[in-house]
Formats: sequence, structure tokens, C-alpha cells
Amino acid sequence: MIKTMQQTLFIVLDGIDGAGTTTHSKLLAGFLSLKGLKTYLTREPSSSEIGKLLRIYLKDERIPASTDALLFAADRVLHYKNEIKKKLEEGYIVISDRYIESSIAYQSSQSDEITIEWIENLNLFAGEPDLTIILDIDPKISLSRKNQEFLEKFEDTSLLDKVRQVYLTRAEKLGYSIINTNNIIELVQTEIQEVVLNKLKEKGIGIKK
Ligand code: TMP
Repeated sequence: MIKTMQQTLFIVLDGIDGAGTTTHSKLLAGFLSLKGLKTYLTREPSSSEIGKLLRIYLKDERIPASTDALLFAADRVLHYKNEIKKKLEEGYIVISDRYIESSIAYQSSQSDEITIEWIENLNLFAGEPDLTIILDIDPKISLSRKNQEFLEKFEDTSLLDKVRQVYLTRAEKLGYSIINTNNIIELVQTEIQEVVLNKLKEKGIGIKK
């Protein structure tokens, strides 16, 4: 029996802290569900034991960047193999709030000893997304919206300036869409939806009008 190719898509929203990846991933998942598509929303760090440890380490300044990079990669491979790949095989459109570009941008900015090539190698066993969208905002604006008492270790303007530059340089090199999120949420979400709708069309995935 010939198996027909499944009509799925693996979408990632990535960007610096406060750029709105979580808000926009949720809104996008709602939009795609309304359009009649089976949609699965997930995020990184994932819900695995390594992901839970990473959430604790995000508040701990003593963890070296190389340890972060190794753990994020270990969490990602688990996340991909046990969750994302399975959902794609079941015919879901998968949206991940953060993925490999987070490791590349954050961990390479954390330490001069960490190269993008090394991070790419660590992540070799995590499947590649079909579509990565970078949400972009000036860190001064994004951090001013956060509660200053509960900032995590990466939520610092000078680090985030570096992280942002890596995201933008990679997006340009790899052809990712960059969407500025310093605008009304609905307008930003519409821009994201347009990029996703184009990709769905390109892949021949039909939606409800
Ligand atoms: P979030 O809950 O706001 O998405 O925060 C996750 C934090 O973890 C954010 O500061 C980015 C950071 N992070 C990395 O440094 N490397 C990674 O690979 C991932 C997925 C997240």
C-alpha cells in the first residue's frame, strides 16, 4: 500500500526575552485550530526532567555556559524524538515556542569560548523546523515590560543586545522571517499568520476559509 505523505509543518517562533514568543505561539495555535488544522503547541525548555532542571538553572548564575549548551541540546533531542516527531507523524502542525536558534543565540553570546559550530554539532540529532520566525524587539523595551524583581540570568540588556545581533545575523543568512514585535499584538500576530499561511500554501496544506 502506498502511504500518502502527511500534511504537516514544524513551526518555531524564536527571539530574545520579552519579544513575545509565548504570547504569539499561543495565538498562532488558536488561529490554526480555528482554521481546522490539528495543532500541537510546545515549548523549550521542554517538560522533560532535563527541561525542569534547566528552568531551575535559569535562575542560577553559577552554571557555566557550556553546561547550559549541553543540557539545552540534550533536552531538545528528547523533545524532538519523544514529542515533536511523534506529533508530526500523527499529522499535527507543531508550534514550538523556542528551539535551536535560542541555543545558538544565547549560549554563543554567553561565552566567547562557545562557537555556533559547536552548538550546531550538539544539536545534530534534533530535527530541523520547516519554518523559523524570529520575533524582534529592542531589549530596552522588552525588559522594561518585565517585573524587575524576578528577572532570570539572561534578562540583562547588554547580553540581550548581543543575543539579538546573533538572531538577526542568522535570520539574514538563513532566510528566516524577522517580525518586529514593538507594535499592537493583533497587528504582529497578523504578520506572523501571513508568513505561516504562505508556508502552508507552499506545502499544499489546505485550510478552512
Ligand atoms: P522563556 O520561558 O521566557 O522562554 O525563557 C527561557 C529562557 O531560556 C530564555 O532566557 C532563553 C533561554 N534559553 C537558552 O538560553 N537556550 C536555549 O536553548 C533555550 C531553549 C532557551
